[in-house]
Amino acid sequence: MTSVQQSGVFPLGDRAVLRLGYGAMQLAGPGVFGPPKDRDAAVAVLREAVDRGVNHIDTSDFYGPHVTNQIIREALHPYANDLTIVTKVGARRGADGSWIPAMTPAELTQAVHDNLRNLGLDVLDVVNLRSMLSVHGPAEGSLEAPLSVLADLQRSGLVRHIGLSNVTPTQVADGRKICEIVCVQNYYNLAHRADDALIDDLARDGVPYVPFFPLGGFSPLQSSTLSAVAARLGATPMQVALAWLLRRAPNILLIPGTSSVAHLRKNLAAAGIVLSDDVVGELDGVATKAA
Ligand SMILES: NC(=O)c1ccc[n+]([C@@H]2O[C@H](COP(=O)([O-])OP(=O)(O)OC[C@H]3O[C@@H](n4cnc5c(N)ncnc54)[C@H](OP(=O)(O)O)[C@@H]3O)[C@@H](O)[C@H]2O)c1
Repeated sequence: MTSVQQSGVFPLGDRAVLRLGYGAMQLAGPGVFGPPKDRDAAVAVLREAVDRGVNHIDTSDFYGPHVTNQIIREALHPYANDLTIVTKVGARRGADGSWIPAMTPAELTQAVHDNLRNLGLDVLDVVNLRSMLSVHGPAEGSLEAPLSVLADLQRSGLVRHIGLSNVTPTQVADGRKICEIVCVQNYYNLAHRADDALIDDLARDGVPYVPFFPLGGFSPLQSSTLSAVAARLGATPMQVALAWLLRRAPNILLIPGTSSVAHLRKNLAAAGIVLSDDVVGELDGVATKAA
């Protein structure tokens, strides 16, 4: 068994994916804007991920914008039958790289067509509506209008499945009354655990929870406890952070981001790390200290 397969599988839409996947956001240029310094290196990261068995890739056409999807297409098209590409809509980029809400019917429809064209697909596997009611984090408010637009695009055959991102538990519950929600993608990691209850609720219903910033995002996690545990286990802190997430709940699907083949290999090897109950207890204390 190769190591990524040791992460196990969980249903996502009408497929089962390995729980350890890959997030492509780091493949664009600095600030997720413009092209990367080394396009060949970005292509190599994607090919390495798939060669090692990854079958779940997270992206968006607003990374770059367009650049990340175009690199995915260059690296991996025609796609393997078992590869699930999850994208997101709801934002666009300003000329200065800013993140601007784009949740009108015309903007959402345009975004779905941009994703289809740049990825080279006839239908998108999963489209997350990334709430932009606030750019910084989940904010209450109705998502009925934009979600209904995606449900129409699903009925017209351009979108296979719909998910939600950057949302509150109320928005998840309300969204599930409008259409099937096949995954929820929110900010969550060892030190940032606001969604603990939501994760457990979704697990009971068999709905995947996909944490973004699983390694801390633009400022990777730093914790003396994490470093001490990693040293004892002969692993890296980032590997232990991923192993903790895999252990946290069966419905967690990981999409750690990296622009480096070396980091990718280390991240995928986290699937083989088994944490004892004592170690999990120790790591659970990181969030309390961070709070
Ligand atoms: N829905 C949303 O609003 C939203 C928001 C943010 C992200 N996302 C998605 O979530 C995915 C993951 O988030 P993310 O990439 O922003 O953050 P992340 O996975 O938490 O961390 C990425 C950062 O960690 C570094 N890194 C990765 N592996 C490492 C390793 N083994 N050792 C040391 N450093 C390492 C990366 O730098 P290097 O490139 O140097 O490895 C990068 O700076 C994204 O790719 C994207 O698909 C979604």
